[in-house]
Amino acid sequence: MNYMGLNEIREKFLSFFESKECLRLDSFSLVPKNDASLLLINSGMAPMKKWFTGAEVPPRKRVTTCQKCIRTPDIECVGKTARHGTFFEMLGNFSFGDYFKREAISWAWEFFTKVMEIPEDILWVTVYEEDDEARDIWVNEIGVNPERVVKMGKEDNFWEHGTGPCGPCSEIHVDRGVKYSCGKPDCKLGCDCDRFMEVWNLVFTQFDKDEDGNYNRLANPNIDTGMGLERLACVMQGVDNLFEVDTVQNTMKHISKFAGVNYKENENFLLP
Ligand code: GLY
Repeated sequence: MNYMGLNEIREKFLSFFESKECLRLDSFSLVPKNDASLLLINSGMAPMKKWFTGAEVPPRKRVTTCQKCIRTPDIECVGKTARHGTFFEMLGNFSFGDYFKREAISWAWEFFTKVMEIPEDILWVTVYEEDDEARDIWVNEIGVNPERVVKMGKEDNFWEHGTGPCGPCSEIHVDRGVKYSCGKPDCKLGCDCDRFMEVWNLVFTQFDKDEDGNYNRLANPNIDTGMGLERLACVMQGVDNLFEVDTVQNTMKHISKFAGVNYKENENFLLP
């Protein structure tokens, strides 16, 4: 695995998915349009809801983007963990009733192991506990060690917001090594510390949940994936946290100069 700059990673991702016939679109605005449910765009799929629900026709059934995002619930974690930011960019590939689980999984693995050249032995995968289809693809088609494919419950591996399109998801985590572990004896995949960093979430939107709580199978299921660009940059650059990736450091150096404060000199320092 070689060092790669954040801008190069973004370009490699978008061109990889162009090679899979996805249409590259610019990031949508951070300010949602015609969506009163969100103050700020929080994921690659958020500006595309109209294409997922079928209210509008997408420009192509396969799309890829790098979306500007802000997740307000994450703000409490900023500065406390290595992996949460206020503003971040989310890489994503999407399918509107076109390719599905098999392609989404195998392309994600190809991108990580062939394009990024991340060693397989630091990668872990989670799947929804009832999604045997996804587990079977990971283990029997891709060849991932079954001990590295971990079943998790609805709170971790099921993507839904009220009623409407929803489905199980599969997350790819990078084991950054014991130096990032919280040191607790039970620290393992799923621990809240910074050792096993979730980098990419593959959502298999295969149900339409109705008002009575029934999960009705969609005739044309969709794919929605989201990967934190800065998190992947952290891995590719071997740095401690999001604030140490190349592009963020460039900004931070200027701020440090203006503020007269050096990064990491005093962790308790607060500007007045
Ligand atoms: N839409 C997938 C994610 O944000 O994780």
